[in-house]
Amino acid sequence: MLRTEVKRIWPELEWIEDESLREKTTDCWVRAFELSPLEPADLERIPFTLKVPDCPVTFMAHKRLVVHVSRDAARKTMEFCADALPIDIDTVVAGAIVADVGKLLEYEADPDGGVRQSARGKYLRHPFTGVSLAMECDLPDAVTHIVATHAGEGNMVARTTEAWIVHHADFMTYEPFVKRLEL
Ligand SMILES: [Fe+2]
Repeated sequence: MLRTEVKRIWPELEWIEDESLREKTTDCWVRAFELSPLEPADLERIPFTLKVPDCPVTFMAHKRLVVHVSRDAARKTMEFCADALPIDIDTVVAGAIVADVGKLLEYEADPDGGVRQSARGKYLRHPFTGVSLAMECDLPDAVTHIVATHAGEGNMVARTTEAWIVHHADFMTYEPFVKRLEL
């Protein structure tokens, strides 16, 4: 069953304390798979980015890493400056889990039986399709805001503290693959 598979590839869903938020976050991934040629197990073998030749890190390894780094960063920020930068940890975790959910709509089946980038993926990058999925699944606006602003598009607007954390967790674990100093 699709929902069971989503929960298997995303053990971090259990970190979301609010039951309603946890279910809506799960719904969002289930809905994306319903619209995608990809299946949950595919994400455990395809690379997380096509911008790195022979990328050795899988989609799920990178997406889960971003959730772990985001939660750890949020906890440390709360430990040292909770009064100045109060953070809702559930929002950070849910937002990090769904940040890239729209990527499932960037693929389509190709005639050879594989997958390729879809026209929709070219028209609408995953932050946009991700917002659509998040709103369809009734996620809170604070979580959908993280989807909307996690990538470069978000540099045009003000981000919440939770969104800044997810944005940097995502980029700090991506940029070394494409802009690392080699000596
Ligand atoms: Fe992304």
